[in-house]
Amino acid sequence: EINFFFPKQQTLAVIKPDALEKHKEDILKEIQDRGFSVTQLKEMVLPREMAEEFYKEHSEQPFFSQLVEFMCRGPCLMLILTKENAVEEWRAMMGPTDPAHAKETSPNSIRARFASDILQNSVHGSSNEQHAMEKIQFIFGDISSEAELTSDGETDK
Ligand code: PPS
Repeated sequence: EINFFFPKQQTLAVIKPDALEKHKEDILKEIQDRGFSVTQLKEMVLPREMAEEFYKEHSEQPFFSQLVEFMCRGPCLMLILTKENAVEEWRAMMGPTDPAHAKETSPNSIRARFASDILQNSVHGSSNEQHAMEKIQFIFGDISSEAELTSDGETDK
């Protein structure tokens, strides 16, 4: 019998303003039940410039300004999720972008259950490992430097 071991992977998850108001506990519980470790978390209201930068890949889309506006409307919960295959598994848990589509194809997904429309679709997840690294860095800064050694050999945090 062959055992496969997959390395742990990180992804950025965001609980968007619509869902944070009403479904924060349900979503966090599900994340934990599915075996993800929440290795960092931060609740924040995204400043407009940050939301624009966060979604820069979509800046040419007709919905861009609406999306930015919505994401700044209230607090978001930013999470780093760690697990084997985290990027793909979190995307699967979220379900398709449009909750109407999600209800048809993945009724147990977060968007099928909690999202109201394609704009207010409850959660975000990085689409690939490269994006995950970039967006984690953008939201949380350089987490690899957090336990840096100081000159006298003590950790500074
Ligand atoms: S992805 O991640 O690029 O595959 O996702 P995609 O489906 O292309 O959508 C990119 C983000 O844009 C949001 N979106 C919309 N917002 C408002 N109106 C419309 N019509 C719309 N279509 C897509 C979608 O929710 C994605 O945002 P995030 O936060 O990444 O999920």
